[in-house]
Amino acid sequence: MAEIVLDGVDVQFRQPGKRAEPVRVLDGIGLEIADEEFVCLLGPSGCGKSTALNIIAGFVEPTAGRVTVDGRAVDGPGPDRGVVFQDANIFPWMSVARNVAFGPSVQGRLAGKELDDRVAHYLGRVGLDGFGDHLPRELSGGMRQRVGLARVLINDPPVLLMDEPFGALDAQTRITMQELLLELWDRDRKTVLFVTHDIDEALLLGDRVLVMSARPGRIKTVVDVPLPRPRSYDVMREPAFVELKNRLFHELRDEEERAAVTH
Ligand SMILES: Nc1ncnc2c1ncn2[C@@H]1O[C@H](COP(=O)(O)OP(=O)(O)OP(=O)(O)O)[C@@H](O)[C@H]1O
Ligand SMILES: [Mg+2]
Repeated sequence: MAEIVLDGVDVQFRQPGKRAEPVRVLDGIGLEIADEEFVCLLGPSGCGKSTALNIIAGFVEPTAGRVTVDGRAVDGPGPDRGVVFQDANIFPWMSVARNVAFGPSVQGRLAGKELDDRVAHYLGRVGLDGFGDHLPRELSGGMRQRVGLARVLINDPPVLLMDEPFGALDAQTRITMQELLLELWDRDRKTVLFVTHDIDEALLLGDRVLVMSARPGRIKTVVDVPLPRPRSYDVMREPAFVELKNRLFHELRDEEERAAVTH
């Protein structure tokens, strides 16, 4: 059974204070993500990628349609779904270790030495050994995003929802973070929906890549990525990678042109 199912999902947003017709953002989205599958979502700006992710996260309620995660209807956020955004979701006034400890400690799941050990474990896994006492402002953007990842991973959610998590990082840091995510996923095998603008990133990470149409967003194309795992950056030189990249480039450009005309 698929872990995440969207069936006939429509979303319309009313513009605050305006009487105009509501904006149709998603139009009959159907999507199934299998347990432990890594799916990347590409599409032109404004097509509704974040909205689709926010529906699964439980932050946005669809106007119509059905959304289930592990067979249960989504009716709000939950600890089974970890969400990572472009800006690391960390508290600037808390040390790195306290940030990572936050989830399990507010939920009362862990405390004392057990919690400290778990925090140290996840800091190690994201490459931040020894940074527990630092404040976020003392870290680089890439390091802050590592804290954001550790903060979500410590809850061990079966589902990870990532919305352009590396979008604000420089190219080199971004590659390091992509390889880190591949390594984490190889060990933990979570079900992942990863939103990105970057075709290379989608093909490097995903088992499947979905391309959304210009608004109102629909799933326009589904591409399987038959590249072996474990993957590293070298996979980008494979002929299969280059061929898929070319195909996705044209798909995406068509939709970007449509988006430019309709907006
Ligand atoms: N809460 C909201 N209220 C009203 N309109 C919204 C709301 N959230 C999103 N929208 C509108 O829905 C459309 C899709 O937004 P969304 O953020 O999902 O796009 P996106 O594909 O993630 O874009 P980008 O690639 O730029 O991040 C946009 O036109 C946006 O203005
Ligand atoms: Mg977005």
